[in-house]
Amino acid sequence: MMNQDDLKRAVALAAIQYVPADCIVGVGTGSTANFFIDELAKIKNKIRGAVASSEASAKRLQGHGIEVMSLNEAGALEVYVDGADEITRHMHMLKGGGGALTREKIVAGASRKFICLCDASKLVDVLGKFPLPIEVIPMARSSVARQLVALGGQPMLREGFTTDNGNIIIDVHGLKIMNPVELESELDHIAGVVTNGLFARRAADVLLLGTADGVKTMT
Ligand code: 5RP
Repeated sequence: MMNQDDLKRAVALAAIQYVPADCIVGVGTGSTANFFIDELAKIKNKIRGAVASSEASAKRLQGHGIEVMSLNEAGALEVYVDGADEITRHMHMLKGGGGALTREKIVAGASRKFICLCDASKLVDVLGKFPLPIEVIPMARSSVARQLVALGGQPMLREGFTTDNGNIIIDVHGLKIMNPVELESELDHIAGVVTNGLFARRAADVLLLGTADGVKTMT
């Protein structure tokens, strides 16, 4: 019987086939991305390096002896590999449980292909059961929260958490996200919002889904 970590390890291994030789890999953040970093370490001599979406991932990559470059140095990337908190069959994702959403969105946006790694529990019909993380400039906390209430959400400050960019995270509960592309844009237009955790305009290209019957590939 495979547990959740076994499923994460299986999708991480499957993702290696999407890493072209001699490339710079965009690397996500979180427990699934950590398994991917560990797999990447096994082929580190075949890649030029990595661009990390968080300080935590950079540290893990460097711990394996993988060169970490800035996105500015690396330029456009062939592939970005990351987990998600929820994903739909349309490849729209809800991300940011680990609070790294801004850098994740930046690196994903600079990559030709987004490979999403999830265990089967994360495939949903409608996004929003997982609270939607929003990175916010600290001085805008209350005004952003009020606008989130007006949109029908219940905003909650992630206590004691500061992002790699020095900002706060507001987790929005109670949303049933029927149109993620529209809501992603709407949230981005609130002054003080740095990034929201909807990754719908730039959806995943490939989903590697860990199931009890093995890794399923969805495109
Ligand atoms: C971090 C993220 C992660 O990809 C997401 O939270 C999934 O994490 P995990 O692989 O640990 O379940 O968006 O900001």
